[in-house]
Amino acid sequence: MLNIILSGAPGSGKGTQSDLLVKKYGLQHLSTGDVLRAEIATGSALGHQIDALISKGNLVPDDMMYGVIENYIASLPKDCKGTIFDGYPRTVAQAAALTHLLKKYNMDAIMIDLLVDEQLLIQRLIDRGKMSGRADDNLNTIRHRIAVYHNQTEPIAHYYLHKGNYFAVNGNQTMADVFLQIMRIVDRESKK
Ligand code: AP5
Ligand code: MG
Repeated sequence: MLNIILSGAPGSGKGTQSDLLVKKYGLQHLSTGDVLRAEIATGSALGHQIDALISKGNLVPDDMMYGVIENYIASLPKDCKGTIFDGYPRTVAQAAALTHLLKKYNMDAIMIDLLVDEQLLIQRLIDRGKMSGRADDNLNTIRHRIAVYHNQTEPIAHYYLHKGNYFAVNGNQTMADVFLQIMRIVDRESKK
């Protein structure tokens, strides 16, 4: 079994590469951003709270995310080949919580970090924003999301480097070339 944390700045290609990984390796996939947007779509009081944070580009509190991840891991099928965590963890506290939860099931995860130049991130998200309808795909919020990423999420790379589970990928290339790099890592690590 291979669990993959697919990390990277907003617009780095986490969702795009997750779809390719699901097709190729039959992995489960959790995008915490999608889970949160689904809660907003229900119109619940919780959804309104989440919307206020996401639409400004701020993170949802760690304790709110903990329950989402705990339930997801508990509900993974017994014959699961592994799962992709897309957009989780996003803080060092979330990384520690994930390690703890996975350990309960005798599991661990590797981190694949999609590294993309800032100008390219902004361009991709501005382009996507023309169609996506996402409240956070506008220039001001994109800039804030990138700043939040640098301040709160980038430090998790050190956490996984320290654990020996960190792999960086050049995410500036075409979708197919980025996927080739990821496949090399997955094929090698899943044999261990
Ligand atoms: P989330 O939904 O995870 O958004 P994000 O991190 O901002 O990233 P995106 O989904 O915008 O980009 P992506 O990396 O998936 O790239 P994509 O493949 O779409 O989170 C949203 C919000 O939810 C957060 O800001 C936060 O508020 C909250 N949240 C989520 N998780 C949380 C957590 N764990 N804790 C707390 N809060 C949390 O690609 C982008 C575009 O580029 C697409 O149009 C795509 O077609 C294109 N593209 C992709 N790859 C390439 C390529 N190689 N070449 C050319 N174009 C490409
Ligand atoms: Mg995404």
